[in-house]
Amino acid sequence: MTDRELVDLALEARKHAYAPYSHFAVGAALLCQNGRVFTGCNVENSAYGSTICAERTALVKAVSEGCTAGWTTIAIAGSGSDFCWPCGACRQMLYEFAPNLRVLAARSDGTFESALLSQLLPHGFGPESLQ
Ligand code: THU
Repeated sequence: MTDRELVDLALEARKHAYAPYSHFAVGAALLCQNGRVFTGCNVENSAYGSTICAERTALVKAVSEGCTAGWTTIAIAGSGSDFCWPCGACRQMLYEFAPNLRVLAARSDGTFESALLSQLLPHGFGPESLQ
């Protein structure tokens, strides 16, 4: 799967976003080593704090289907003219399972930039930190 294809899956997943409050639709696509892709969108709630981001939707889908390792790349597609980098909570959740994850942040026009999660969350707190 190419980066372009993964970003396109995130753009597709964005169509399912439930964002009646912010009107900011986000899609994500998480690629695993075995080629499986878990997609997600943001799902907002009238109790605003209960909202879940697209990245964490994809993450919980992967974990709940038994895929907890071998994550290589996540693509995120927002609705703005700027690249959609993951929020702090999503960085932390992703770090738990894949501290070396590649992150592709796309704009609404589909152009994207890449970075490593370890660059986005330096000195992250993970499972090893509890040892
Ligand atoms: N959001 C995401 O889904 N992912 C991000 O990386 C940034 C923010 C969502 C949360 C909320 O539904 C909307 O975008 C506005 O913050």
